[in-house]
Order: sequence, then C-alpha cells, then structure tokens
Amino acid sequence: MARGLLSGKVAVVTGAAAGIGAAVVERFLAEDARVIAVDVAGQVPDRAGVRTITGDVADPATWRRVADTAHAEFGRLDVLHSNASVVVRAPAHALSEDDWDRQLAVNLKATYLAVHDCVGLLREARGAIVLSSSVHALAGLPGHPAYAAAKGGLVALGRQLAVEYGPQVRVNTVLPGPILTSVWDGISEADRRRSAAATAAGRLGRPEEVAAAVTFLASDESSFITGACLVVDGGWTAMKDSA
Ligand SMILES: NC(=O)c1ccc[n+]([C@@H]2O[C@H](COP(=O)([O-])OP(=O)(O)OC[C@H]3O[C@@H](n4cnc5c(N)ncnc54)[C@H](O)[C@@H]3O)[C@@H](O)[C@H]2O)c1
Repeated sequence: MARGLLSGKVAVVTGAAAGIGAAVVERFLAEDARVIAVDVAGQVPDRAGVRTITGDVADPATWRRVADTAHAEFGRLDVLHSNASVVVRAPAHALSEDDWDRQLAVNLKATYLAVHDCVGLLREARGAIVLSSSVHALAGLPGHPAYAAAKGGLVALGRQLAVEYGPQVRVNTVLPGPILTSVWDGISEADRRRSAAATAAGRLGRPEEVAAAVTFLASDESSFITGACLVVDGGWTAMKDSA
C-alpha cells in the first residue's frame, strides 16, 4: 500500500484557514498526516484528519491548548509549521507602536511561544519545525519595517532553534516570494504584473508551491537538513533589473 510522506505524523499548522496555510493543510492530509489547524479568524473546514483550534498565535493560552490537544487527543506531535502572519504597510515614521508590537508578536514571538509549549512533544517524536519567513528577510521593500524585522528575526530564530534542539528536532525556514493569496487583494493588476516580471519564473507563485517545500522540510525526505533556509520565490531574489 502506498504511504504518504507524512504517514503516522501529527502536525500543527498555524494560519491554516487561508492562503499558504490552507494549502499546507491540504498537502499534509494528502500525505497522510493528521492536522491540528490553528487560525484566529478564518474557518478551517472540519473533516476527517483535521482538529481545528480557533486562537491567536500571539496568545500563550492558544499554545497551551495546542500542546494539550496534541498530547490528549493524539498522544504525539511530529511537525510544527509556524505560518500565521499579519502585515501592516507603513513606513516607520507612520507606523503606530501598536501596529509595530502586533506584527512582532504574531510574526516572531508566536514561534517562541509555540516552541516553549510544544518542543517537549516534538523532541519525543524526533520531529520537525518549519517556519514561514519571507524574502522580506533578504531584501528591503518600502512600507514593511516591522514585518521585515520580524521575518529577519525568524531566520535567526530558526537557526538558533536548530542548534538548541538538535539532534532530536530539525528546524528549517521557508522564505516565500510573491505568492498569490489574500495578501495581494488590495494590489493592482499593474503592480501584480510588475512583481511577476521581477521573478525569473515570470509569474507569481501558487500557495501549493510553497506547501510542497514545507512538506519536504516536514518529512523524513529532508532528514539531513536542519538550520537551513529554503527560498521559494521563482527567482525573485536572484533577479536584478538594472542597467
Ligand atoms: N503571500 C505572499 O506573497 C507571501 C510572501 C512572503 C511570505 N509569506 C508568508 O507566508 C505565510 C502565509 O501567508 P499567506 O499569504 O498565506 O497569508 P494569508 O493572509 O492569506 O493567510 C494568513 C492566515 O493567518 C491567519 N492569522 C493571522 N493572524 C493570526 C493570528 N494572530 N493567529 C492565528 N492565525 C492568524 C489569518 O486568519 C489567515 O487565515 C505568512 O507567514 C507570510 O508572511 C507570504
């Protein structure tokens, strides 16, 4: 009988109701994982293999519920995919302190909270953590000071966690480039075309293309990869349009 890449594994996915997180849930289920799907707002459809938790990843109480659920209902936790994020676009001088704090809390601190409560189970299972950073960790785009700081922090945090919790737990980070999800909702067709043209692939990415990378890093297929960053950007960071 064919076995999925994540057969027998239990995985937490945050930001699971939309975009890349929803695509990761679909792919993990297709690879025979059972999924604890965490989201603050959106609805994750209830179905076989999915246990939904409505909660804010920046709230420590959410992580106590996640760890308790993994322990009590599944008896294990093999994969943590820390993916939920918020972005408020404004240059530093126009960004409120609340919006700075919120972006750092959801986009960076939440991963510390997750590890604080879940790493015991992940160690027992010899599990894997996959963080969602961004190409904003590598290149500056106007209007993203807090988001970029948090995503850059995640790259360092991922490396740190890999060293701290190896050899039992592997920790890797994906850095998506322009991926067509709701974060592009307010962006004009012309700007979308400009972003697509700034990739070597000549197009925006699809959530499933990031989910494929996350699945690889969550699975035993990447058993000798830890502390690494995988850029999933269609060559956006490789490309410079300059005379
Ligand atoms: N889409 C892109 O172009 C792109 C590019 C680079 C990096 N990323 C990263 O990929 C990840 C997913 O992005 P996306 O485009 O799918 O985003 P999205 O906005 O489509 O989905 C994010 C999900 O996270 C949930 N969420 C937001 N705040 C939360 C919180 N506090 N607690 C729990 N859930 C929360 C939302 O309800 C939503 O369902 C993010 O980490 C993002 O920074 C995306």
